[in-house]
Amino acid sequence: MQVIKYAFQQHGDERGQLVALEEFKDIPFEIKRVYYMYDTGQGVRRGFHAHKSLEQILICIHGSCKILLDNGGEKKIVPLECPYEGLYVSNAMWREMYDFSPDAVLMVLASDYYKEEDYIRSYDDFLEYVKNQESGKAEK
Ligand code: TYD
Repeated sequence: MQVIKYAFQQHGDERGQLVALEEFKDIPFEIKRVYYMYDTGQGVRRGFHAHKSLEQILICIHGSCKILLDNGGEKKIVPLECPYEGLYVSNAMWREMYDFSPDAVLMVLASDYYKEEDYIRSYDDFLEYVKNQESGKAEK
């Protein structure tokens, strides 16, 4: 499984750093939604879902956390600890977020609005979904 991590351009000078993100330039999709998590309790693990049709970029703009990515066949753990790094998360990818530092702010840029019907919240359903997608591809 390929992990796609972006290193965004930093516009640094003696005043500090600035990162600018533009859709279709720095971000490979139209950004329809931005949300962020902060004040995450110690030991909290969240996410536990995949999406049928949603692309996201995760950026830990302050502090650090870890992301578990699972495509149904392989798992990867990706630490996020730089405000200029973005992790691309495709559709059909199970994700869990954990190990949040107390000061962590995890920002997510998403390619679509919040749609509950796009979520796959059961791991068994996710494995079934991936299997069906793969057999669909094989038939084509
Ligand atoms: P939830 O899906 O539990 O977060 P995660 O799976 O990433 O741990 O979302 C927490 C709450 O926030 C839930 O009530 C739904 C709401 N929510 C929105 O209203 N809009 C959004 O874009 C997101 C991601 C969540």
